Amino acid sequence: MPLPEKNNRVIVTSALPYANGDLHIGHLLEHVQTDIWVRLLRTNNITCHYVCASDAHGTPIMLRAKELGIEPEKMVEEFRSSHIKDLQSFNISHDNFYTTHSDENKYFSELIYKKAKESGFIESRQIEQLFDESAGLFLSDRYVKGTCPKCSAEDQYGDNCEICGAKYEAAELGDPVSTISGQKPVVRSSEHVFFELSKLESNVAAWMKSTPLQEAVKNKLEEWFQQGLRDWDISRDSPYFGFEIPDMPDKYFYVWLDAPIGYIASLENYLNSETKETAEDIWSESANTEIYHFIGKDIMNFHALFWPALLETSKFKKPSNVFVHGFLGLNGAKMSKSKGNFLSMRDYLDILDADYIRYYLASKLSPSIDDIDLNYEDFQQKVNSDLVGKFVNIASRSAGFLKKNDNQIGNDIDLEIYKKFISSKDKITNLFADLEYSKAIKEIMKLADSANAYVDENKPWILAKDDKNKEEVIKISSTTINLFRVINFYLKIVIPDTCSKGERFLNESINSINDIDAPLTNHKINFFSPILNRLEDENLEALIKRGSNG
Ligand code: 2FM
Ligand code: ZN
Repeated sequence: MPLPEKNNRVIVTSALPYANGDLHIGHLLEHVQTDIWVRLLRTNNITCHYVCASDAHGTPIMLRAKELGIEPEKMVEEFRSSHIKDLQSFNISHDNFYTTHSDENKYFSELIYKKAKESGFIESRQIEQLFDESAGLFLSDRYVKGTCPKCSAEDQYGDNCEICGAKYEAAELGDPVSTISGQKPVVRSSEHVFFELSKLESNVAAWMKSTPLQEAVKNKLEEWFQQGLRDWDISRDSPYFGFEIPDMPDKYFYVWLDAPIGYIASLENYLNSETKETAEDIWSESANTEIYHFIGKDIMNFHALFWPALLETSKFKKPSNVFVHGFLGLNGAKMSKSKGNFLSMRDYLDILDADYIRYYLASKLSPSIDDIDLNYEDFQQKVNSDLVGKFVNIASRSAGFLKKNDNQIGNDIDLEIYKKFISSKDKITNLFADLEYSKAIKEIMKLADSANAYVDENKPWILAKDDKNKEEVIKISSTTINLFRVINFYLKIVIPDTCSKGERFLNESINSINDIDAPLTNHKINFFSPILNRLEDENLEALIKRGSNG
């Protein structure tokens, strides 16, 4: 897949984290994947807006705020600021991290709903649902447990059975119990609003055909088409934390309706502060805009089914692609707070530099939607051997020779090897553009190996013993520092902090890929100081300890 068109404007999003808990390294996987892609676009001179927000609505948010004894608005804002702080500490370069509980999102949610209604895709229906009389709430599937109607397994959720895999309605469960109050719920009828997805099958299919989705995403969509698309219930009864549906008192938009609209609202909020443009223009069907969503595989239906359908009926532009990744496991097991196998972003940051894990995750990412594992031993080994042993080593072993030349890179560079390094530019760019991060990293590490081999073959430490070789030693070291410079640039989108330090050493800052075409000559660099340290055993042990404390 080529990079987006240079003349197009590009909007990139990561899924909106719920504002009711701390961010963990699973969230980080997605933000790192997105951030590398965004940085790739920017260094290729493509105008790109990277927006995200807190997902602020829904029953779990409402209940958590109640538990904490604060207003949901206040809780959402508190989590939002802590999420922003965590994400910034990992150098995730959002242009805006907004909230779905905003005026802009209310405006766009109402607008998109109104347009879908005017074009005939909204219908009200009476439905029956379980109601918890003591909590005064209708219960969504995750708040009801009971006996599976098919295999009689006990303690099963309201939508499907974990034992036999049966799918059913919550009202079909035997001996249902509300997980909120522990009471037996009753069946109550209520008016709900449906988005008639079933009428839009051919539109979504056309979007799918024209979009270069990952194979696994296409397969999943086709599976859903085969089952037949069902209309989507987009309303919830009061009490609910969300936006009230116009002309329907006490009925609220389901959180999953206004969540993706939050992408548009976050963009609108960003544009308002920066320019005179509006999100309505930039996201319109006719705009020269490309839209890319990065998401986890659990929310594919919302982004690859409901979202394009909703955008179709409201005449907004549909995604140019939806990039899907698998889940992140920790040391071979699913992450779980209660089982002591968990690592929050903040806990990680208290102990280690962001770049270590940014690099490790990048080295594992690919376009596959298979799960990824963060294995601590592998993590330490990869960071130390690749980043410290190969990459940083190129600079550290050559800087000393130039120190003797007043830190001056010479005029004479071995252009043959330099050109070889530059000629990898397209290959590396294309691999990153295709989400083949793991392969891109391997390619970059091959270059690091070649740079080290160049030093080994030329043996400047032997030549330096004789003053008559001075010119030769300067040439070898100037070339090596230039090779370091190219790799430093290729890695900058992955490990920005480390590579900024690399640039400080090189005494220059590079923002565009074209700037590495010519080598640095007759240029004064700074004294070398280690730009990244080894990941030591005691640091890893501290991390393991922190992780198992949940
Ligand atoms: O699954 C989640 O964590 C959701 N909060 C993601 C929302 S993404 C978007 F649609 F808003
Ligand atoms: Zn069952």
